[in-house]
Amino acid sequence: MLKRSDTSLLRVATPQTVITLILVACAPSVQTTTGGPPRAAAVFPSGWHYPSGKSATFAERAMVASGSRLASEAGVEILRAGGNAVDAAVAVGFALAVAYPEAGNIGGGGFMVIRLADGRTAALDYREVAPGAAYREMYIDSAGQLTKAGLIGRAASGVPGAVAGLTEALARYGSLPLDKVMAPAIRMAAEGIEVDSALSASIGGKAAIIREFGGGRVFLPGGSAPAPGTRLVQSELAETLRLIATEGASGFYRGRVAEMIAAEMQRGCPPGVAERRRASNGCGLMTTRDLEQYKPAWRTPLHTTYRGYSLISMPPSSSGGITVGESLNILEGFQGLPPFGSAEQVHVVASAFQRAFVDRNSKLADPAFATVPVEQLTSKSYGLQLQKTISLDRHTPTTELPNYSSEGMETTHYSVVDAQGNAVATTTTLNELYGSGVWIPGGGFFMNDEMDDFTSQPGKPNLFGLIQGERNAIAPRKRMLSAMSPTIVLDPRGKVLLVLGGRGGPRIITSTAQVILNVIDNRMTLSDAMSAPRIHHQALPDTLRYENGGLDAAALERLKAMGYAVQGLRNIGASVVAIMRVRGGWEGMDDPRSTGAAVGY
Ligand code: DON
Repeated sequence: MLKRSDTSLLRVATPQTVITLILVACAPSVQTTTGGPPRAAAVFPSGWHYPSGKSATFAERAMVASGSRLASEAGVEILRAGGNAVDAAVAVGFALAVAYPEAGNIGGGGFMVIRLADGRTAALDYREVAPGAAYREMYIDSAGQLTKAGLIGRAASGVPGAVAGLTEALARYGSLPLDKVMAPAIRMAAEGIEVDSALSASIGGKAAIIREFGGGRVFLPGGSAPAPGTRLVQSELAETLRLIATEGASGFYRGRVAEMIAAEMQRGCPPGVAERRRASNGCGLMTTRDLEQYKPAWRTPLHTTYRGYSLISMPPSSSGGITVGESLNILEGFQGLPPFGSAEQVHVVASAFQRAFVDRNSKLADPAFATVPVEQLTSKSYGLQLQKTISLDRHTPTTELPNYSSEGMETTHYSVVDAQGNAVATTTTLNELYGSGVWIPGGGFFMNDEMDDFTSQPGKPNLFGLIQGERNAIAPRKRMLSAMSPTIVLDPRGKVLLVLGGRGGPRIITSTAQVILNVIDNRMTLSDAMSAPRIHHQALPDTLRYENGGLDAAALERLKAMGYAVQGLRNIGASVVAIMRVRGGWEGMDDPRSTGAAVGY
């Protein structure tokens, strides 16, 4: 039995740094490690609601972790049938579109980071692009006010990239045919899935928007959300998935499905409305030509390091890799982090995020439209330069940071490792829960509202409170900047240690980084690293967010005295999915803040 009173402080020397560890002397049951000092149950503040010392799902050979148990099982089904991690990831992607319709999708987009057992790495960008008819001020009304059209309704969608991305990943790195990896998703859509309490609640929470745009026919039988335990059959979606399984991506981007999407964009649109007034009149802009022209992009994966560990992550059009990498480079400038949960530790971590977000919000954008200084932002010397701007006893207001410029949910992550050692980290999204709300009749799927990730109006916050710059302004066929951060961490021997990512807009970046810090600096087990209280800082608003109960009163007072404006939240608003190598196999889990599951064998 663990006894909290048995804690002792131990300082452990590593080649790079000295790490302060809080070890529980008698905790062999939670010691899961692959080298380095043992991991023991962490000590969380007494008011914190997730316990430490719990176990994640363990498997010896292979693991799939996602926001939906059914989707994780679909991935394992494909692995057991001889598929590799990419086959399984594609199976999970399509299965999530059925079992996790609030975020899993074929009407959205995402990013996939791959690390093969032979050491090759790849990064696939299948982010949505703005329709060809999109224009800079499309969400600003005649009074100069930002409208909701970038979030709700037909004009909110970028051209979906999910089907093109998943089929492209399979074609290049998969080993099984498309119809085989899509079989579990097709079966779930055609035969139905059992609705659990989480799905029932998520549909119920968005009933109004689902009803408004036609999805109620499937998702609100009898006018309300299906009760837990009932079956949800999605015949139209099954038909669309069958078409994709037979014809490949063109089953979605050309012909029947593409025409259904384009027709839906016109529904309810007043006749003769001027091109530049379409968005404000509820008309969609996407055409069959936009769909036909969509292409995913293979990117050079972003490679950064942290205290001897290597990170493989997503470059733009996601900001995830750069912002996680830059934050960790800043923190590496400290000889070791202050003890977990102390005001000093929260301060340095928040300050690193704050500085990295200033760059994120002003310098990052679709690389086809802006020159992004990737090497500079991820260099160690730049990290050190920013680290030196952190005063140890005082918060620096964002507007006083040297590189500050006044220019101005729902996502899901899944991780797969196979028995050969291939690893895949994928994050996909519709943006908000059920995206724009627009459901394609006949096609059976929801469209994204990803256009809100652009800078719709410089100086004005988007859904996530992000105040972003000119570089991320709307332009035809441009990808909107994302925060999705699928990441693979290698240990100092070059072996996969972590495969992770999350959902929650900009909080994806800070939550992913904190799980990495918890594993590397704080030597936590996977379960503790995921259960530990988190903080968030995104430069603007210049507020330190923390989870209620996650900071003790003294630390909170000290942070206020340092000059922080603080905001306590029930939940930080992000959740992470992760797999971690442990002695004898793998551990995997969805965030305790969420309802998914890891399945392995
Ligand atoms: O790409 C992005 O950064 C956002 N569209 C992600 C949205 C998200 O994570 C919502 N989930 N809770």
